[in-house]
Amino acid sequence: MTTATTPAAHPGFPVSLDVERIREDFPILASLVRGKRLVYLDNAATTQKPQTVIDAVARFYSAENANIHRGVHYLSERATVAFDAVRTHVATFLNAPSPRQIIFTRGTTESINLVAQSFGRSVLGPEDEILITGMEHHSNIVPWQLVAEVTGATVRAVPITDAGELDLDAFDRLLNPRTRLVAVVHLSNALGTINPVRELADRAHSRGVPLLVDGAQSAAHVGVDVQALDCDFFACSGHKVYGPTGVGVLYGREELLERMPPWQGGGDMIASVTLERSTWAPVPAKFEAGTPMIAEVIGLGAALEYVESVGLPAIASWENELLAYATARVGEIPGVRLIGTARRKASVLSFVVDGVHPHDVGAVLDDEGIAIRTGHHCAQPIMQRFGLPATARASFAFYNTRSEVDALVRGLDRVRAVFG
Ligand SMILES: Cc1ncc(COP(=O)(O)O)c(C=O)c1O
Repeated sequence: MTTATTPAAHPGFPVSLDVERIREDFPILASLVRGKRLVYLDNAATTQKPQTVIDAVARFYSAENANIHRGVHYLSERATVAFDAVRTHVATFLNAPSPRQIIFTRGTTESINLVAQSFGRSVLGPEDEILITGMEHHSNIVPWQLVAEVTGATVRAVPITDAGELDLDAFDRLLNPRTRLVAVVHLSNALGTINPVRELADRAHSRGVPLLVDGAQSAAHVGVDVQALDCDFFACSGHKVYGPTGVGVLYGREELLERMPPWQGGGDMIASVTLERSTWAPVPAKFEAGTPMIAEVIGLGAALEYVESVGLPAIASWENELLAYATARVGEIPGVRLIGTARRKASVLSFVVDGVHPHDVGAVLDDEGIAIRTGHHCAQPIMQRFGLPATARASFAFYNTRSEVDALVRGLDRVRAVFG
């Protein structure tokens, strides 16, 4: 049995994870792939779902389905209450001051596009700059390029060091009176680096500049407190927090959300409509045009309940142990080079094998039932920074075990034997 005893969140109260027991809650983990027991190490792409999430979505469609906010009938009222309760739950999960600051979107990508199209379009002009970093996912690069194209603004990027950390001196130089927003990833999906978000927020705020955090990876792995981070926007995706695809969250500072115009028009986001003009509903409805992803939001609520029942301090500790173990074991394989060796990391191990294309690494591992990701991880500028076309990436969740890391190491030995 794999039981992880983790450092206590509160001294004197040891936290432990019964990983084997937890794995029973995730039906897919018992699957055979190519005749072998699945070893799922692609959690940064998407996480697997516990039975409670699968059941919540199935129950909604089989017994509770109705549109929300419109009907006076029983099912509609119940669905509305359940949907609104998840907004409150998300606010608690992120420690947002109020559920009004939680907007449901399709995912991190849509959350960032919302800020770019609403906040960005309304504040940016030809003299202005948006400051991102060299370790962003495409979803925190391209939306800014799109808004820069229409406003004439410029997108600048903070360079990263050989270890895969932000160059903070360069950050200070690039942050200037023309900067209108800083947008930075919390936990890099390609390198595993955890950025010092609070420090960046302090530096940005000292110049009156708001900060957006791409929390696609951090929400499930490090525990997020938007007030402690002091960020102005925080974006994350349900499917990376053990919930369904098609749902995500944007947290925003209330005074900014109040000032921002809607970015999509339609039902539910209005206060009144005439044929000449319309007025907007208060936040968050102002940003949620049309029928939302009701079943997915209900599923997200079940996912957060599950994560809370395990506990983020215990999750983070076990994943850190796994990452340290994997870093040591994979790092000692001859011909393997780790990409991303920041001092603060979580859940992601990127590497290359000398003389073997990452796709070939992925194919040999797949033959062993081991799922990793290979490619540019939607972060081409990072690959360019390290002069690589791609890396192989193993990414961990709390249901992974040391024996799965051992399987990865055996698989990499086979890669070397095949291509050696
Ligand atoms: C750091 C980071 N940002 C943004 C995204 C985009 O998330 P989604 O595709 O769920 O919108 C991802 C997805 O991998 C990510 O890892």
